[in-house]
Amino acid sequence: MKRLQGRACVVTGGAAGIGEAIVVRLVEEGAHVAVADVDGERAQELAERLSGSDGEVLAGRVDVSVPSEVADFVERAAQAFGRLDGIVNNAGVAIPGSAEDISEADWDRVMSVNLKGVWAGMKYAIPHLRAAGGGSIVNMSSVQALVGFPGWAGYAATKGAILSLTQQAAVEYGPERIRVNCIAPGTIMTPMNQRIFETAPDPDSLIASWNASHALRRFGESAEVAAATAFLLSDDASFVTGTCLRVDGGLTVLGPSGQAT
Ligand SMILES: NC(=O)c1ccc[n+]([C@@H]2O[C@H](COP(=O)([O-])OP(=O)(O)OC[C@H]3O[C@@H](n4cnc5c(N)ncnc54)[C@H](O)[C@@H]3O)[C@@H](O)[C@H]2O)c1
Repeated sequence: MKRLQGRACVVTGGAAGIGEAIVVRLVEEGAHVAVADVDGERAQELAERLSGSDGEVLAGRVDVSVPSEVADFVERAAQAFGRLDGIVNNAGVAIPGSAEDISEADWDRVMSVNLKGVWAGMKYAIPHLRAAGGGSIVNMSSVQALVGFPGWAGYAATKGAILSLTQQAAVEYGPERIRVNCIAPGTIMTPMNQRIFETAPDPDSLIASWNASHALRRFGESAEVAAATAFLLSDDASFVTGTCLRVDGGLTVLGPSGQAT
């Protein structure tokens, strides 16, 4: 029996990068998955690619910063699968800028996708998880919730808030057997980071310095974040709630002497 056999989950930002790897992994583990992404075409292509798997896959164009779109999609998924057991609030955008430099428009944008989007996913999934007798929520935070990186004020603020929201909701919904956890990935090579490297003045030295900032001296793979997500959604994590699982190759425990090598 597969670990997530017959479970139904929504994955936001599931058309590319970490989200895509999560969708693939959940389907491999037997889950039915609803892929919500602002890139509806790519989400649809992924659903078609995975058709014929054990788990059913449906896709929709959803902008998570618009709560009514999240509400409609969660409802559609619950109707299609007859239940909902989990949601992975993964969609996010990386908008740089220090506290001084970031524009108000960029601040509002990063807050509304990264933070309001996670809240909306939780708000509209929780009644379905309750109806299923319990469930699991996984929110995508970042190492930026735990340590500071210059130039990412708004993004880091959203990821710290996701960590606090996760802890708060774990306490609030624990009595109803709804577990709420978040993941703090280190650097994962995805389209998000490819875009950062493409626009860097010296991509090779940026890549080398980012590699060196992890104890494992390498970037992570999306599949490694997907494996952690599948664990948190599964009964293997039945006593795990309110935690922030670092999937960061040791980035947050590496001291300055480690970086000298
Ligand atoms: N890549 C990393 O190194 C890294 C590290 C820590 C945390 N994260 C977090 O992991 C998550 C996924 O990152 P990624 O690197 O895979 O990003 P990505 O840009 O490669 O992919 C993000 C996906 O989300 C979708 N998306 C963007 N805005 C959306 C919106 N408003 N509504 C719905 N979908 C939307 C995109 O279309 C895309 O399919 C993000 O929350 C990110 O902050 C990434």
